[in-house]
Amino acid sequence: MAKLLVLLLLHLGILLFRDHRSSYQTRMNAFREVEPVDLPNCNLIKGIEAGSEDLEILPNGLAFISSGLKYPGIKSFEPDKPGKILLMDLNEENPTVLELRITGSTFDLSSFNPHGLSTFTDEDNTVYLLVVNHPDVKSTVELFKFQEDEKSLLHLKTIRHELLPNLNDLVALGPEQFYATNDHYFVDPYLRSWELYLGLAWSNVVYYTPNEVRVVADGFDLANGINISPDGKYVYIAELMAHKIHVYEKHANWTLTPLKVDGRDRK
Ligand SMILES: *[C@@H]1O[C@H](CO)[C@@H](O)[C@H](O)[C@H]1NC(C)=O
Repeated sequence: MAKLLVLLLLHLGILLFRDHRSSYQTRMNAFREVEPVDLPNCNLIKGIEAGSEDLEILPNGLAFISSGLKYPGIKSFEPDKPGKILLMDLNEENPTVLELRITGSTFDLSSFNPHGLSTFTDEDNTVYLLVVNHPDVKSTVELFKFQEDEKSLLHLKTIRHELLPNLNDLVALGPEQFYATNDHYFVDPYLRSWELYLGLAWSNVVYYTPNEVRVVADGFDLANGINISPDGKYVYIAELMAHKIHVYEKHANWTLTPLKVDGRDRK
């Protein structure tokens, strides 16, 4: 409630600053003209026309890609179709994408709207895929088991929690254990647009297990991608508007402490 009041006061105050929008757009860096550049080693991969939102590559060269995100304020290339998870084998000379079939009676495919994703491989080499999903603009995490022979994903579980209201990305620590970013604070679209416009630093990172859920880092304007170092000691968080990467040290009790920040001030 206190945050709502602060926002309303800022809303009134901001009417006095007419050039704020241009500064917000500069910070987003998403409304600029892009110069064509020659990328001799890049190839267009057919079959990802609806966008590639996130990707994770397994040590064996298999890549999972989430595609078809519908997100407020961002252009959707296939607004009438559900999103999908694509698989690419980077060992092939000319890799193509294959849409993974999703099985399991517990999952509503028609509202699938995948965003960030992450994998966890257990000691039996079973690969779990955790996917941030936005069915009807809500936020859930979907747990799938990857079935390589059948090129399919078996849906095991949908995870919801009040501390996971506005998810963007996650990094898996176990089949049902992860750090996830909430990229904004307000669920209400009107308040949320003001939050973004003002660049308020109310976005956070949450640690989740079935037994314990808590905020482990906050104070981001828009916490976006999150990942962990291969040795599991450090967690990296991208802060969108500030153009910064935050490095946190991960402790045995899963708390995070800030270590360093890298970034370039573009204001
Ligand atoms: C977690 O571990 C860190 C580092 O050992 C320690 O400083 C911190 O107090 C611990 N926090 C909790 C809540 O146990």
